[in-house]
Amino acid sequence: MSLTNFVTLGRSGLRVSPLCLGTMTFGTEWGWGNEEKDSRAIFDRYIAAGGNFLDTADGYTMGHSEELVGKFIAESKLRHRVALATKFTFNADPGNPNAGGNGRKNIHRAIEGSLRRLGTDFIDLYWLHAWDTITPVEEVVSTLNDLVRQGKILHYGFSDTPAWYVARAYTLAQKEGKEPLVALQLEYSLVERNIEREHIPAAQEFGLAVLPWSPLASGFLSGRYKREGAVVKGEGRLEKTKDQANPVFRKFTARNWSILEVLLDVSKQLGKPPAQVALNWVATQPGITSTIIGATKIAQLDDNIASLDFTIPADLRSRLDEASTLEALHPYIFFSGTLQSMISGGVPIAHWSPARVTGAPATPSEKALAAEK
Ligand SMILES: NC(=O)c1ccc[n+]([C@@H]2O[C@H](COP(=O)([O-])OP(=O)(O)OC[C@H]3O[C@@H](n4cnc5c(N)ncnc54)[C@H](OP(=O)(O)O)[C@@H]3O)[C@@H](O)[C@H]2O)c1
Repeated sequence: MSLTNFVTLGRSGLRVSPLCLGTMTFGTEWGWGNEEKDSRAIFDRYIAAGGNFLDTADGYTMGHSEELVGKFIAESKLRHRVALATKFTFNADPGNPNAGGNGRKNIHRAIEGSLRRLGTDFIDLYWLHAWDTITPVEEVVSTLNDLVRQGKILHYGFSDTPAWYVARAYTLAQKEGKEPLVALQLEYSLVERNIEREHIPAAQEFGLAVLPWSPLASGFLSGRYKREGAVVKGEGRLEKTKDQANPVFRKFTARNWSILEVLLDVSKQLGKPPAQVALNWVATQPGITSTIIGATKIAQLDDNIASLDFTIPADLRSRLDEASTLEALHPYIFFSGTLQSMISGGVPIAHWSPARVTGAPATPSEKALAAEK
């Protein structure tokens, strides 16, 4: 599979590459990104390999990421070749609660800033970056619907939101004849599989695209970090962010180290770098549309693009699945296995799903039902 094996973004007509280029590392303002020259080299390499899907956000590197992405697109005259995604939600003016969040006032402020920094008059895919816990879903849907009608955005999606909020937004839009969201963006990797509980099934129900972020757990799954007693050795983003309060960067846990151990062993047996195996696993999981990759070096990007070129054999894939399996929790234990069998009277039920129609691998609940037979 290559970057030109385009796939539709959920139930939309937008065709995107199966690997999207994340640009959170464009700019050095956060202390671990790239200068303009190196960001440009990453951008050029991704485009030269056939990629057409770019992800940024208004808050990345204090707006610098958007400026660089906009500049590179303009200089390369690629605006109509790329699918450009950016995000709103994070606060741009500490002390002013209306310069952040998902209310109409902030969305109107944020879109104008993003269009200016990106040097464009439309965004292909506009993301709500994270749930703000307060804005009614009606306000979010009607504001984003209006932006579509005005031509400022073509599609919208939700990142880092509860699945119930997604379901309410989709259903409301559908019932009111408004533009529905078409995609979800969520953290997903061998060390973070929680979206399998509610978000993947919700996406399959509504035909939404799913875009995993941090598929390498910020570089942890590349195997570049090692434990020496209580000390972690290895250079990179996680070393630089280890004292930050941001929970996204807390990857050095006992559970994650044990998953990494299995990944390293599987990679050795496959003769592939761990980063490629970890990315391949994410990109080929049920329900995944396009995986957002991050790279600060050309060699990393090349490695990541090559992650689509092989298949992980079933026995090795099972080892990865088992090592990273989700803890059985209430109420999810009711939705598969013994308890579903008690509901169906022991008769296996096959649900219709897009996965079934496209011949994609079975969903986790389908696998559990099959195991129960
Ligand atoms: N919606 C959200 O809330 C959200 C949150 C986070 C990210 N995102 C999006 O997702 C994108 C990707 O996230 P991410 O950068 O965290 O992804 P990631 O793939 O988990 O981490 C990327 C980092 O891993 C290391 N790496 C990448 N490829 C490698 C390779 N082949 N070998 C060894 N190390 C490798 C590099 O670390 P070093 O730079 O340390 O070398 C690189 O910067 C972001 O750019 C952004 O667009 C969205």
